[in-house]
Amino acid sequence: AINIIMDTDPGIDDAAAITMAINDPKINLKLITAVAGNVTVDKTTKNALKLVRFFNSDIPVAGGAKQPLIKPFEDAARIHGESGMPGYEFPEDLPKPMKESAVIALRDAIMAAPEPITLVPTGSYTNIALLFSEYPEVKQNIERIVAMGGSLGKGNMTSAAEFNVFTDPHAAKIMYESGVPIVMVGLDITMKALLTHESIEKLPTLNETGKMLHDIIIHDGDNSDAGIAMHDVNTIFYLLHPEAIQTEKMWVDVQTEGPANGETVGDIRGAYHNGRTNAAVCVDIDDVAFNKWFIEEVSAIQK
Ligand code: BDR
Ligand code: CA
Repeated sequence: AINIIMDTDPGIDDAAAITMAINDPKINLKLITAVAGNVTVDKTTKNALKLVRFFNSDIPVAGGAKQPLIKPFEDAARIHGESGMPGYEFPEDLPKPMKESAVIALRDAIMAAPEPITLVPTGSYTNIALLFSEYPEVKQNIERIVAMGGSLGKGNMTSAAEFNVFTDPHAAKIMYESGVPIVMVGLDITMKALLTHESIEKLPTLNETGKMLHDIIIHDGDNSDAGIAMHDVNTIFYLLHPEAIQTEKMWVDVQTEGPANGETVGDIRGAYHNGRTNAAVCVDIDDVAFNKWFIEEVSAIQK
């Protein structure tokens, strides 16, 4: 199995990504850490705990950064609702989060892992930037980072910037300059692999998990006639089906100032960084395979 840790801000699409990661036998999810993003960190931590409880899982959850490194915090409740995961009644008796904060929990889990870990951030990278700044030794035990965020094309927050990077561009810059190999799972593929309305309508017919996902996904404000973007789920799809996604190696720089703040600038011609690379950027995806996999994945869940 692939050993992963998710750092997330659930969030509707985060919830779907966590669902796949908890349940797929080819993935060993060791820890979930929460960060402020779609909603406040108190809510994202609680939402992660709701999912862990829903699946009767014992995966530990730790709460993390309340705000970005430098920028003031702004949520995305207009897309994800006030709670971050609206539309479904989860059990009330939630497990407790860890006593340790996300940074300490991440350090301990990464250092204790017998084999290098894959980090999967699906929110802003604040926890990860703090971790790398305080405990740089963890980098040796991280195989790679498969991160939702960024775009080679236009943004979804500003013209230039995608939400996770825009929310904390200073953290994104630290992560991209960390020397740890990164797979950038950005809007270039997540806006292509929309979950179609046909797929969404199938979900409640599958099982209780499908009903839960359906009921929250239909509240996603990021909705078009072609379907709903399941951004964060693309990280898990990539881990399991890299053959369905094309990547290109390049250097990615993160802008932190001015109208392009939060932009991920991919050196696609290799001209600025003389061919050096720090990331494999996802550039194309088989969206039909993504929809088929999504339904199969939920169908296989025993709840
Ligand atoms: C990203 O922003 C968040 O709202 C989603 O959960 C996803 O991680 C997409 O830009
Ligand atoms: Ca997210």
